[in-house]
Amino acid sequence: MPLIDADLPERYRALLFSSNDAVVAMDHTGAVIEWNPAAVRTFGWTAWEAAGRDMGELIVPPSLRDRHRAGLARYLGGGEPVVLDRRVEITAMRRDGSEFPCELTITRIAQPGDPVFVGYLRDITERHTAEAELHASRARIVSAADEARRRLERDLHDGAQQHLVGLALTLRLARRKLETDPAFVGELLDEALVDLATATAELRELARGLHPAVLTEGGLKPALVSLAKRAGVPVTITASPEERLDARVEITAYFVVAEALTNVARYAEATQTVVSVRRLGGVLHVEVRDDGRGGATMGGGSGLRGLLDRVAAIGGTLFVESPEGVGTLLRAELPCGS
Ligand SMILES: Nc1ncnc2c1ncn2[C@@H]1O[C@H](COP(=O)(O)OP(=O)(O)O)[C@@H](O)[C@H]1O
Ligand SMILES: [Mg+2]
Repeated sequence: MPLIDADLPERYRALLFSSNDAVVAMDHTGAVIEWNPAAVRTFGWTAWEAAGRDMGELIVPPSLRDRHRAGLARYLGGGEPVVLDRRVEITAMRRDGSEFPCELTITRIAQPGDPVFVGYLRDITERHTAEAELHASRARIVSAADEARRRLERDLHDGAQQHLVGLALTLRLARRKLETDPAFVGELLDEALVDLATATAELRELARGLHPAVLTEGGLKPALVSLAKRAGVPVTITASPEERLDARVEITAYFVVAEALTNVARYAEATQTVVSVRRLGGVLHVEVRDDGRGGATMGGGSGLRGLLDRVAAIGGTLFVESPEGVGTLLRAELPCGS
C-alpha cells in the first residue's frame, strides 16, 4: 500500500515530508493509512511497518487503548466527537514500549464515504522536563531565600543581639556603681567596649555576607581581592575585569568565587588556588581552579546546587570538573551584554 500517494502534488508531499510533527492518518477501522517521516522518528516504526496496522496498537499505551477504541466506536455510531479539532495532551507509546507526553490534534478529513482521521502529534518530553526543572529550581530558590532569612535571624539573635544585651546589663551596673565604686565602673566600661567591638564586628561580617559593600562600591576587582584575603588559603588572582558590569552579573560572579573558595578551604587540601574572571565579548568567564583532592560533584551539597540556580537565573551556565587527586575547576559563563 503506497503510504504517501504517488499522485500527490509535490507541494503536499513536501508538507508531509518536512513536517516536524508526526502526521498520521487512519481509516474508520482504525488502520494506519498515512505515516510521515516525523512519525517514523517519533514512534520508531517505518511507514511500511505501520501501514495497515491498528493505530491503537502502534502508538496508544495498553492502559489507554480501550478508551481510544471506545471513542472511535462512539463517534462512528453517531456520538458527539470528544477529541476532534482541538489540542489535547496525551501519553503516547514508542515502538520499544516507552511512553512519552505528546501533544495531539485529530481532525476528520472532509471527504465522502467512510471517515478518515488525521492526527498531528508532537513529542513534548523536553518541554515537560524543562517545565519540571523550572518549577524545581524556583522552589529551590524560594527555600534558599527562606533558609538564608532563618540563618540571618539565628546569627543576629545568637551573635550581635547577645553582645548588645550583655552590653546593656554592664552599662546599667556601671550606672548604679558610678558614685560608690568608680574603679569598678572603669572595669565595667572596658568590658562594655569589648562587647561593643565584638557586636560591631559581627554585624559587619553579616552585612558583608548579605551584600558585600566593596562590590557595590568598587566592582569585582577589589571584591575579588577581599575574598582572596579572607579565603584562609593562598589564592592567586590572574585576571579580573577593570570595568563595572551589570550588578546582577557582578554579584553572581562574586558568589561563584566566594562559594568556590569556601569549598577549597573546607574540602580541597590544595596547595594552590587560582581565580580568573575575564570578559570575552558578551560573556564573563569565571574560573576557580585548585590542585587539591578533587571529587567535587554538582549535587553533592547545597552550595554548588544553589550556585547553579543562581547562575541559571541570569541565563548563564556552570560546570565543575573535579577528577580525584587532580583538583577542581569550577567554571561559570555569564552573559553580560556587549
Ligand atoms: N574544591 C573542592 N575540592 C574537593 N571537594 C570539593 C570541592 N568543592 C566541593 N567539593 C565536594 O563536593 C561537595 C559539593 O559541594 P557543595 O555543593 O559546595 O556542598 P556543601 O554545601 O557541602 O559545601 C562537597 O560536599 C565536597 O565534598
Ligand atoms: Mg560548599
